[in-house]
Formats: sequence, C-alpha cells, structure tokens
Amino acid sequence: MSNSGSLASLTRDFERFKREWPRDFPSHVRDTYRIDLSARYLGQPLPHPIGKGSGQLSLNSGQLETDAEAGLAFAVLKTVIAEDSGGDQSMAAWAIHESKMKVERRGAGWTVTWKGRGWDRSFDDYLALVRAARDLTNAGRLLTVPSVKYHLPRLDEPFRDAEYAHTTRALATAWGEPPLLLEKDFSPTLAGDRLAEEKRQILRWLREVPQRIRAHADVRLAMKLMNARFDDDFQVEMMTAASSADALVVFNRLFDSTAGVAYGGPELSERNLRVLARPSDRPTVRPSLCGTGNVSSGRMIVEYASRGCSSVQLHTFLQLPLDAYPATDGSRTQRALHALVFDPRDGLVAVMLEREAAGMLSRRGGELHFLDLLPLPLPLPDAYRPR
Ligand SMILES: Cc1cc2nc3c(=O)[nH]c(=O)nc-3n(C[C@H](O)[C@H](O)[C@H](O)COP(=O)(O)O)c2cc1C
Repeated sequence: MSNSGSLASLTRDFERFKREWPRDFPSHVRDTYRIDLSARYLGQPLPHPIGKGSGQLSLNSGQLETDAEAGLAFAVLKTVIAEDSGGDQSMAAWAIHESKMKVERRGAGWTVTWKGRGWDRSFDDYLALVRAARDLTNAGRLLTVPSVKYHLPRLDEPFRDAEYAHTTRALATAWGEPPLLLEKDFSPTLAGDRLAEEKRQILRWLREVPQRIRAHADVRLAMKLMNARFDDDFQVEMMTAASSADALVVFNRLFDSTAGVAYGGPELSERNLRVLARPSDRPTVRPSLCGTGNVSSGRMIVEYASRGCSSVQLHTFLQLPLDAYPATDGSRTQRALHALVFDPRDGLVAVMLEREAAGMLSRRGGELHFLDLLPLPLPLPDAYRPR
C-alpha cells in the first residue's frame, strides 16, 4: 500500500475503532500496514509495547481482567511493602491508606495528584492478587509482574535480609513456575524523604539490591528508578549503578517538595527523554529499558523507543476523564490504546509511517518493525569483552 493509501486506511480505522475495539489490533496492524509492533519487557516478548505501570489501576483482578480484554501488553501490580516472617515492615510508612486521587491538567498534559503510597491491605491479600494475575499470564491473556518496595538502609546500616527473604520467597511460591518476574520500586515519594539526600546511599542501594533479592529465588528483576533530586548526570550515574538488574524502568515521577506530592506531565517526559539521550558508558544492551512518564501519544512512545526503550508503562493516560479520549465506547484501557495506536497524526502507526517517509526507518522483509526504532547497541568496550 502507498503511504497515502495507508493514511486513508488509518483515518478509517481510527473512526470505526472508536466504537468497536479489536482486541487483536497488533495482527490488524500487521495485515493492513505491514507494521510489526512486537516489543519486549524484562526479556519477555510482547505483541506491542504498551503496558500499565504499577499503581491504583492494578489493585484487583477486575482491573486486570479489563486490561486483558482490551489487549494491553502487560500490567505491573501495585507495589507491596516487603515484610519479614513476623509481619514487620521497615518501610511501613509507605503502606498508608489514601483513597482520593485528583486527575488534573498540568501544562499541555495531565497529572494525577495522590498522597497515598504502597499496597495498604495484608500481604496475604497481595499474594491472592498475584495468584489471580499469574493465572491470566499463564492463560496467555496478559503478562503481569508484581512490584515490591524492600528495606533501604542508611549507609552505616545492613540490609534487613529477613524482609528480602520472606517477601521474595512468598511471591515466588505464589507465582509457581520460575523465574519470577519482579519490579523493585524506588518510589518518587522517596525523593522527598530524608533517606534520599545522600548520593552514595542511593548508589549503594542500586548496586546491592539485585543480589539481595536474587539470593532468595530465581528472579528476573526490573528496577524502577526514581527521579532523584539531583542533576541529570546523577540520573545517568544511577542507571550505571543499577546495571546488574535485568531491566530498568525509567524514570518514576518528579517530586514537588513544596506541595509534598509526586507529579507527572510534560516536565516529566522532558526530563526523562533528556537523560535517556545522554551518552552513557552502559556497556551492553543489558539491562533493557522500559520507559515511563507522560506517555500520552504514539509519538511519545516513539520518543522513548528511539532512546532505547523496548516498551513503555503508563499510569496517567489510563485514567483521564472519559471525554478526553477520542473513542466513544469501551473501557479506559481500550480507549487509551485506540488513541495511542490509531490516531492519524500522533498515533504509533502514523508516526512509524512518518519515519519511513522521512528515511529514518526502513522495511525489512517488507515490514516496519517497532524494535527497529531502538538505537543499535554500543559495541562492547575491550574491558567487557568475553575472553
Ligand atoms: C496514583 C498513582 C499511584 C502510583 N503508584 C505507584 C506504585 O505503587 N509503584 C510504582 O512503582 N509506581 C507508582 N506510580 C507511578 C506510575 O506507575 C508511573 O510510572 C508514573 O506515574 C509515570 O507514568 P505516567 O506519567 O503515565 O503516570 C503511581 C502513579 C500514580 C499516578
């Protein structure tokens, strides 16, 4: 199909999918536009790059069922606060209950204001959610990934291994078949905490946490990095320090210390994209990257991909007022996917075709490939070459 033929089809698809959403839209995109949306998160193949970040939208199996029905690629469960076998939580201050969320405009985008923190029900309840999520994953309907906030010590303190052991083993048992895919959350609220005022302390956590977790189960680990209250150089330093993780989620929300709340919107994606575009001495393609922060268009997905992210995870764009989506029917997840993929100007299909027309993306075997948007991996420096 010519580029103008594709654009005409796209306008038609955008209109008709407003009312009736095709769950298997990646096959439709492949057949109609010869575009392969395949992506990856934590080493897992995905049919397309769009997933849900941890938070208030992955608290129960009903929400996950809706996501599976819509054809979302993956969902990260709400962050649970680690505990030891006696139920003690060193990060208990994060397990507070807060129900009110406010979705509001911020600059040209949106943000959600919310003062709550982690999972606020029992650990047993969380394990029940993990089992329900695992069943959806095993049925091939939705990749799901639990998320944990574990103890983070001061520089002169040891890690509380009893929390790492109990929580990791219980999650691995609830999941069943290894490996357990897991996200470790370094929350943005942490950026407002006294604990996060010391660079050396943060770098120690990022270096040591992977082995602390892996000591207790066969875990494939993503670390969700915070936006620390330091400069861009430090964000890059954090990525390097965290390089023994299998994947990095980059980067959680900014922190407004005056209002005492985390926020997103355009300032968040500007910072994240600026940091990801910086040269770094990360030696290999590992850890892989998953982008998060103000993903509200296919164009933004392409911005994250062209800086190395093989998938993205959203929160805010999945909770807008219904009239902010162009679709007129369906769940919020369906409406969000509709806008992100099929918008004729800024959707993923339109922007990939635009890149092709500009000579920035080429067909292989007659198809455009989402993963070809990623930069080629750097060659290994000599010091890292296998002998
Ligand atoms: C209300 C709310 C609650 C969140 N809770 C968590 C959480 O428990 N754990 C976590 O890792 N991230 C949490 N996040 C961060 C989101 O998963 C996401 O990474 C971040 O908001 C940036 O994406 P966005 O701009 O699409 O919202 C939360 C975000 C919001 C808005």
